Amino acid sequence: MIGRLNHVAIVVPDLAAAATVYAETLGATVTEPHDLPSHGVTTVFVELPNTKIELLYPLGENSPIAGFLEKNPSGGMHHICYEVDDIYSARDQLKAQGARVLGDGEPKPGAHDKPVLFLHPKDFAGTLVELEQV
Ligand code: CO
Repeated sequence: MIGRLNHVAIVVPDLAAAATVYAETLGATVTEPHDLPSHGVTTVFVELPNTKIELLYPLGENSPIAGFLEKNPSGGMHHICYEVDDIYSARDQLKAQGARVLGDGEPKPGAHDKPVLFLHPKDFAGTLVELEQV
């Protein structure tokens, strides 16, 4: 069902500082910050030859990652994103096997304007999983 690793997401306490670490210390290509109000985050993508790193910073008062940053003030790994060909078929197969889909279960446009869903970490080895239809 799952295909390529699309990205690994890391919540950071300072987006500019984290982008600088990736750009200058690690020598990677990074994008400009991009606000995603519907997800309550600002993102910077680090573009690697085989995948991407998504740096996340809270946006707005009810950001879903604000609590994560309170518990992890230095930041930390937040989720991994796998590509799927058909997000509805993937969702229905996963639900039929007992996996929990977060929110209302309907795919929403993600950071790349492609439909995404999140799966409960307790069903996937303690890791929040994002599925993105590519
Ligand atoms: Co993501």
